[in-house]
Order: sequence, then C-alpha cells, then structure tokens
Amino acid sequence: MKEKLKEILKNGLQKVEELVDLKALDEVRVKFLGKTGELTQILRGMKDVPAEERKEVGSIANNVRVKLEEAITNKLCELENAKLLADMEKEKVDITEPSKGTKKGALHPLTRFNNKFMQLCVEMGFTVIQTPEIETDYYNFEALNVPKNHPARDMQDSLYITDTILMRTHTSPAQVRAMETMKPPFKIVCPGRVYRNDNDSSHSPIFNQFEALVIDENIGLKDFMTMVKEMAVRLYGEDVKMRVRPSYFPFTEPSIEIDATCQMCKGKGCSLCKGTGFSEFFGGGIVNPVILEMSGIDSNKYSGFAFGPGIDRSVMVTNKIPNIKYLFRNDLRFLKQMK
Ligand code: PHE
Repeated sequence: MKEKLKEILKNGLQKVEELVDLKALDEVRVKFLGKTGELTQILRGMKDVPAEERKEVGSIANNVRVKLEEAITNKLCELENAKLLADMEKEKVDITEPSKGTKKGALHPLTRFNNKFMQLCVEMGFTVIQTPEIETDYYNFEALNVPKNHPARDMQDSLYITDTILMRTHTSPAQVRAMETMKPPFKIVCPGRVYRNDNDSSHSPIFNQFEALVIDENIGLKDFMTMVKEMAVRLYGEDVKMRVRPSYFPFTEPSIEIDATCQMCKGKGCSLCKGTGFSEFFGGGIVNPVILEMSGIDSNKYSGFAFGPGIDRSVMVTNKIPNIKYLFRNDLRFLKQMK
C-alpha cells in the first residue's frame, strides 16, 4: 500500500510537471483526485487496512493528496499566467498611433426644441402629461365640440384606423383627458406627434405639436396674453413683437391666432414671412364653456385658456430647413448640419 501511494505521488507529480494546457490539467486532477480517481479509491479503502498500519498509511495518503493538490494549484497558476501573457501580447495596442477621433451623438433638432419648450413650461408651473397617439373619435372631435359632419373634420383630413378610431389630428384631446381626470385649478402641457393626411414640402403626415391648458377661477384673455408674451420673450428675447388675429376653433371662444417677430429675418421682412416681419406663433383661445361642461367642470366657477403650437415649423425656420421631410428621414448627412 505504501509503495502504491509512493508510486501515485511520483506518477502524479510527473504528469503535472509535463502538462502544457489547462484541459489536460483537469484530466490529471480527475484521474488522481476525482470521485473515482486513484488516490480517492485508496482513501476510501482505508477501512480494509489492518488497524496497526492504518494510522501510518492514512497519514502518507493524506500527504500524497496535499502534495498533488499543491502541484496542481501551482501548475494552474503557471498555465493561467502564461495564457494571460499570451493574450496580452496578442491584443497589444499601439498607443502611439494617431487617434481616428470619436463621433459624438447629438439630440435631434425637434427634440432639442421640444425640450426647450417643455423646460420653459415646467418653469412656469405646468405639469407635463402624455395622452394616446391613437385616439377615439370622441376625444379627437366630439368632446371638442366638433360633431360628426362638422367641416372641421374635413379640414383636418384625418387618418382613420376604423370608423371610430384614428391617429390623433392634434394634441387637443389632451385637454379633454386632463379636464376629465384633474381637479381645477391646474396647468397642463402635452407634447406629442400628430397625424394628418397631408403631404408636400411644408406638410408631413406626421408632425409635432403641444397642447397647453390652464384652468382656474377668473381666467380671461388678459391672463392668456400675459403668459404668451412671457413665453415669447423667454424663447426669442426681450425685443420680440407680437400681434393677434381673430380665428376660429370649435373648442375655444373667442379664438385667436398669435404671430411673433419672424425669427428668420428678425422682423425685417423676408420671403418666409412674405415681407410682414411676423410669422405664426400659435393658435388658441378661451376654453369654450361647452367643453368645460362636457368634461364635467362647472363653467360658472371655472374658466381657462388653451393653445397648441406646432413645433416643426419653428425648427424649420430657425435651422433654415427647406423641406419638412428632412426632419423625419434621420439622414445623418442632414442631421450633422444642425446646430
Ligand atoms: N388643435 C388646434 C390645431 O391643431 C390648435 C389649438 C389648440 C387651438 C388649443 C385652440 C386651442 O390647429
């Protein structure tokens, strides 16, 4: 037995010594120390060794196990180190080689403009909400006082999915959804994509708007104008000029269209503003009491104003983009030119 153990040790150490790869090392470990390995068998058979020899043989066997384990661990370190060095050699980087430069990503011009406007609204106390892009006929038209067969539905040339479900044609459904769920007083703003069946160089079937709605007691046109003026100043600077034109929306009464100093020519007059020095800022008005009542708000106590700027046109003007489609093609050659 003692002889056998000596031989196992000699054999084992020699095998470990000769090894050159990690896989073979594992095989050797299994052969000697594994569940059915040579040494394990002997350790298991200890009970058959005569009692007077058992202590000595046991101690030798243990010694052999320790020595073999030690040899295997040392070899493992040696092989792993060698592999690491070889890998490092293979993956060597020449740090003196000139860099190819890194390409920085940037936010899309529409996202940047939207973020700027949302930041402004949040500073003015608005809560930002989001409502569905696929809307029901009820929220998109009916609840906004645009009954079936109303010409406004025609005007918007909608993209219907079924007879009663459509891609929202404006963000105004957010007004109704807010009035139904929030308790006055509140101020909400809802940015998002809207869809119309329009397609030429200045119209895209997808474009972006946002909806702002303020509901409180004693709200009137003067409050609306004060807020709009403040927004225009914060967006375009102190010397911005504004003008107001009467307009019509079924959900605001009175309705107005607000123009601000043309940002392309700074008011001097150019082809974009057709020489007037003004370009359209947005449409809005005082919330029609009919809408308040339909959404469950007492129109004798509360009133409000709403407005809904389109943001694509502003982005086109400030970046001198000739065709609205460029904003949606994600062509890097175009996007890289945007400031
Ligand atoms: N939803 C209108 C449009 O798309 C704009 C608007 C918003 C008008 C809010 C009045 C109040 O043209």
